[in-house]
Amino acid sequence: MCGIVGYVGHKSVMDILLDGLEQLEYRGYDSSGVAVMCEDEIKVYKAVGKLNNLREELQKHRGEFEKATMGIGHIRWATHGAPTVLNAHPHTCTCGNLVIVHNGIIENYKELREALSKEGCIFRSQTDTEVVAHLVAKKYAQTKDLAAAVREAAKEIEGAYALCVMHNDCKQTLVITKRNAPLLVGIGENEFFAASDVPAIIKHTKKAVYLSDNQIAVLTPEKMVLTDANGQEIKPKIEVLPWEPVALSKMGYKHYMLKEIHEQPDVIRNILVGKLHAPDEDIILNEVKLTKEHLKNLNRIQIIACGTSLHAAMIGKYVIESYCGIAVDVEASSEYIYRRNVTDEHTLVIGVSQSGETADTLTAIKQAKAKGSHILIITNRPDSAMAREADSLVPVNAGIEVSVAATKSYTAQLMAFYLLALYMAEIKASASKEELANLKTELMLLPQKIEQILANTDSIQKCARIYSSTKDFIFVARGINYPTALEGALKLKEISYINATGYPAGELKHGPIAMLDETMPVLSILMKGIVYEKLLSNSEEAKARNARMIALTNSKDAKLDDLFENIIRVPDVDELFSPLVAIVPLQLLAYYIAEFLGKDVDQPRNLAKSVTVE
Ligand code: G6P
Repeated sequence: MCGIVGYVGHKSVMDILLDGLEQLEYRGYDSSGVAVMCEDEIKVYKAVGKLNNLREELQKHRGEFEKATMGIGHIRWATHGAPTVLNAHPHTCTCGNLVIVHNGIIENYKELREALSKEGCIFRSQTDTEVVAHLVAKKYAQTKDLAAAVREAAKEIEGAYALCVMHNDCKQTLVITKRNAPLLVGIGENEFFAASDVPAIIKHTKKAVYLSDNQIAVLTPEKMVLTDANGQEIKPKIEVLPWEPVALSKMGYKHYMLKEIHEQPDVIRNILVGKLHAPDEDIILNEVKLTKEHLKNLNRIQIIACGTSLHAAMIGKYVIESYCGIAVDVEASSEYIYRRNVTDEHTLVIGVSQSGETADTLTAIKQAKAKGSHILIITNRPDSAMAREADSLVPVNAGIEVSVAATKSYTAQLMAFYLLALYMAEIKASASKEELANLKTELMLLPQKIEQILANTDSIQKCARIYSSTKDFIFVARGINYPTALEGALKLKEISYINATGYPAGELKHGPIAMLDETMPVLSILMKGIVYEKLLSNSEEAKARNARMIALTNSKDAKLDDLFENIIRVPDVDELFSPLVAIVPLQLLAYYIAEFLGKDVDQPRNLAKSVTVE
């Protein structure tokens, strides 16, 4: 997490840095800072809280940096040390001549800090980052060459980092490097940009170089010199970014989250384009390189993911097992990477990630790749680190998702799983042509069904009003919608801070039922299918303990009116696709409750959209 930007060129740097940081706010937003090369020396400005606080702070110093054309900036998601001005980046060495911004975690910072303190370095913050400033400054004192100093320091650093470094001696030079954290260089006319991610630079240029681990780039207005860890010069691989400089806008919606929820019908249509033309035609997934032979030799599939992507993965398991006859395990990436998992060349490993950057998932993928597994990545960012590790790719085409709470990317991930499962079933002939054609027909009808939900939100808004004062909220479901219950609860927790939990309804009586009384809302995701009656019985059990019962259902069953205090109705749909229809009202419920409570919907406390630390 954290976002970094850098610029060296001929334009006024401050606006470029601030605009870049704004585009990176999804990576964290608890404090921010910039360092710019003013006429005689580097000046550093920082503020706690949202970027606007930094903008206000800068107003007081306007005259100092107006002519500056080089600088670095940082937006922080605290890992080491609270979000305070002292802990905010940029960090400086003892004499203040060298400044750095950093994204990642320095794992051996304690040892380095101890050693550097003994040598006389004065530490001012509690961060892991500050050791890098002192270490590079020490190496600079020995080498008098900033790139060499960074290279030497990197040899002693363990962990993940993307770094931008400036020194008072080098009035027009930025030095940047990375290891296990994203960093790219944007190329303009006599100017270079550095950033953790594309949105920070796309307004200025579409030409970029993605740095590989341990490469060091020295940027001056005239040129970029790229070297490897041994100082050997490398020819930069210039790519044209497949992005349009879209002005991110809420398009009249109050929040990005609401806009993104409303984009879901189009997201489904977009992902179908080029992949599914007609129910009687085969699904086309050009970037999936799994052959018939390959699928025949597969013993099992492992899906690894975090957060909302993990819930999509759980539904993916259900769908793949139902139609492809291959056993699927799903695991949180953070658990997968610290055990001796049985993964080999007969295992297909699927990584699911909106950002394609999440550190735990990336590590898990690399581990599985080293063991010979075919790696298939489902991601919204085909230009991401995970996509670069992939043998096969399913891009989800959800477009930029700004709100921290994932909504449209989840829908797109589910669609990716449906397409992948049907595609594999076609290759393996594990389902009949007729059955597959019926499913494809249903799949193509989904956008209209979601549009119907979005067009009539009265019952959802009513529930939001009624239950916004609750402290706890339980979501229950069974079968393919158990992950929907988890995702509904996650959405509510993330943006309203209400203690929400999802349970498989059959488990209620094994413990959670003890919590039920007349204050507890229980929302049953009652979609027609094999577990409908079972879930109805579980709901009766909850009602008998006086819980406040809410149904989310596609059933017209009259007996629901007696059992449930509130009913949210959705269009009828095949059970297999019901998670897509069921999640939309739950996203809206979370949204309306958070809105009602006056929470910061798009940037909830303590969260970040892209988690690049373990
Ligand atoms: C963060 C975000 C979540 C997201 C998770 C996994 O926690 O706040 O919305 O689901 O990371 O991210 P990924 O990009 O790998 O899907």
